Amino acid sequence: MTTELNSPLDMHLHLRDGDMLRTVAPLSSESFAGALIMPNLVPPIDTKEALLAYRDRILDATKGDIFKPYMTLFFRENYDYDFLAGFGDSLTALKLYPAGITTNSEGGVSGFDIDTLRPALEAMSELGLPLCIHGETNGFVMDREKEFVSIYENLASNFPKLKIIMEHITTKESIDALDRYENLYATITLHHLLITLDDVVGGMLRPHLFCKPIAKRPIDREALQKVALNAHPKVMFGSDSAPHPKEAKESCGCAAGVFTAPIALAALAELFDKHHKLENLQKFVSDNAKSIYGITPPEKKVILEKTPMNVPSSCGSVVPMFAGETLSWSIKEII
Ligand code: DOR
Ligand code: ZN
Repeated sequence: MTTELNSPLDMHLHLRDGDMLRTVAPLSSESFAGALIMPNLVPPIDTKEALLAYRDRILDATKGDIFKPYMTLFFRENYDYDFLAGFGDSLTALKLYPAGITTNSEGGVSGFDIDTLRPALEAMSELGLPLCIHGETNGFVMDREKEFVSIYENLASNFPKLKIIMEHITTKESIDALDRYENLYATITLHHLLITLDDVVGGMLRPHLFCKPIAKRPIDREALQKVALNAHPKVMFGSDSAPHPKEAKESCGCAAGVFTAPIALAALAELFDKHHKLENLQKFVSDNAKSIYGITPPEKKVILEKTPMNVPSSCGSVVPMFAGETLSWSIKEII
């Protein structure tokens, strides 16, 4: 059995920089036609010069693969219209992190005061630049995303022309919010479709499954699967593949992030096949993102087949999800 994907897109990807960038970028660029690149480097990508230079380093690392890096800028409250307009086509979206909520987010936003945010968010609305948000409060870890829903709603109603992407949603409450506001959209990761908190801490601690937001309850995973498998038009695939060196994960003070880039498409095919929804995978991994972002990615055809894929135990210094295990689907050909 085979299935064909046209121009698959990963609309939330961490590529890092330096040696790590050179290790992980090809693992996305060989199979995806494009990806939305996260700006949480040290220091964050917050100027045009930094963004263009990072884009060039990514293109170098992808070694001529057909792959478009869609660049994001680290959101700051003091951005104005002229600054943002100056990026032209090189900027696809901005990424807002609440200060200190996750890896390298220290310079993010604290407090979500509408009047303080207004100039930057109105400029983005006018320029048609979407706002991607890591939506977690600093409350109790299992409630952080649920508590953030009222902030999403406040932003969505105050800035009705602004496209707001709720990144890597993990809860039923976020899904319910999607249908209440025309301008709310969401990405969903592979790992949140597959695991619950039980897989992370229910038995022996599994550091390679530890991420932010933390995986939630079975009822949340079911709700995520329902919208993803049915390719709800306001949700799209964003892996949040977040590489950390093995020693940073298998350590006291484990870094947050699941590395899924090398297995993403095969594991998605396996999941969609298992639920008899393969016909919806094209929408989830490409078509929905194209219409939400209004982008036209480069042409690339990926043929997947139901033959086993042995997942490597590591990719350079990084341990992928399902390391050493076998998936039932694999990539047959990329045209
Ligand atoms: O688990 C995560 N890792 N969540 C994030 O929001 C950031 C990411 C990273 O950059 O490592
Ligand atoms: Zn992320």
